[in-house]
Amino acid sequence: MMKRCVLVTGGAGYIGSHTAVELVEAGYDVVLVDNLSNSDEQTIEGVRRITGIEIPFEQVDCCDREALEEVFKKYHFDAVIHFAASKAVYESIEKPLMYYRNNLGSLMTLLDLMRKYECANIVFSSSAVVYGDAEHLPVTEQSPRQAATSPYGNTKRMCEDILHDTIIAADGAMRAIALRYFNPFGAHPSALIGELPRGVPSNLVPYITQTAAGIRECLNIFGDDYDTPDGSCIRDYIDVVDLARAHVVAIGRMIEGRNKQNYEIFNVGTGRGVSVLELVQAFERVNNLKLNYRIAPRRAGDIIVSWADTTLANNELGWKATRTLDETLAAAWKWQQVLMSR
Ligand code: NAD
Ligand code: UD1
Repeated sequence: MMKRCVLVTGGAGYIGSHTAVELVEAGYDVVLVDNLSNSDEQTIEGVRRITGIEIPFEQVDCCDREALEEVFKKYHFDAVIHFAASKAVYESIEKPLMYYRNNLGSLMTLLDLMRKYECANIVFSSSAVVYGDAEHLPVTEQSPRQAATSPYGNTKRMCEDILHDTIIAADGAMRAIALRYFNPFGAHPSALIGELPRGVPSNLVPYITQTAAGIRECLNIFGDDYDTPDGSCIRDYIDVVDLARAHVVAIGRMIEGRNKQNYEIFNVGTGRGVSVLELVQAFERVNNLKLNYRIAPRRAGDIIVSWADTTLANNELGWKATRTLDETLAAAWKWQQVLMSR
């Protein structure tokens, strides 16, 4: 059978690079596009080393229509996975126009070119951020989306709508799957690729690994007086390789015409909520070290409890998270150690 080719935008990034590896391992040809605004070429080298394949990389901004069109002329794509976006919540509050321009603009340019070059299938990186502080837990795909609390969150909601409307207008000629990620963490077991946070991390797991590495002095646990069993916030932490595999399954579903609707949405999480304190204790136990941490005031705007109902992804998509919290926390620490030796 002819090999199918997938365009991975944001392919030098954290989730894009892990997905590229899983796509190659599942037998797809892959082309990576990235403007390297939040990544570097070392990640692409990592993907090439893991797969043993000289995966093509095009350094292109997805908002640059002419440059992106050259990529569409050069290759034929059966599907696109669109990771390229700016993702820092606090930066988006300071630079809203940059976020709207980049996140909405890149998607719209891409959809235009997909129509023009007859590429029918797209997977879009959405986020559990669209659910806000959900009223009922676990969060299902039917849970109402809440008003966004940041421009970043708003771009995810707006991109979902752009996608929905475009798919409806395409009248059967296009299909899309939006994956709503919960909290991705960890790294590839080879430790050749992983997360590359810029500056001081705002996400929990990179902050933990940097504290363990001595780069940060002390982890602040933002609140231990919430209405949860141990008082700290609860999230659904999803291993990045498991998350990457969800994209491969979503691509296969559309290419093989197994999708039930032209626009579908799936939660991607483990279905299990873990508190900040539980995560910290698991990290210490698994990696056999002591973490310097203290209880700090609550972080403004934090959601208290969030975890996914994964029934739809399990039954309909045929995907399930497989890696344990311990395995992923070990991988995250291994990756941090590699980063320190670079
Ligand atoms: P990342 O920053 O590591 O990867 C995104 C990549 O896109 C980067 O390599 C960046 O250089 C590139 N990029 C940005 N704008 C671009 C443009 N206009 N043209 C070309 N390349 C561009 O982020 P990630 O964690 O891998 O996230 C991937 C996607 O998943 C994003 O859309 C993000 O919003 C979404 N998401 C991430 C998380 C998370 O916690 N990491 C959670 C939910 C959703
Ligand atoms: C953040 C983003 C969200 C994104 C998600 C997954 C914000 C407001 N939201 O959400 O858009 O989709 O990451 O990447 O940034 N914590 C600490 N100490 C720290 C860091 C975090 O205690 O130094 C706690 C937080 O209070 C929270 C939990 O750890 O309870 C997880 O935090 P984080 O990793 O930032 O993820 P989210 O808050 O879920």
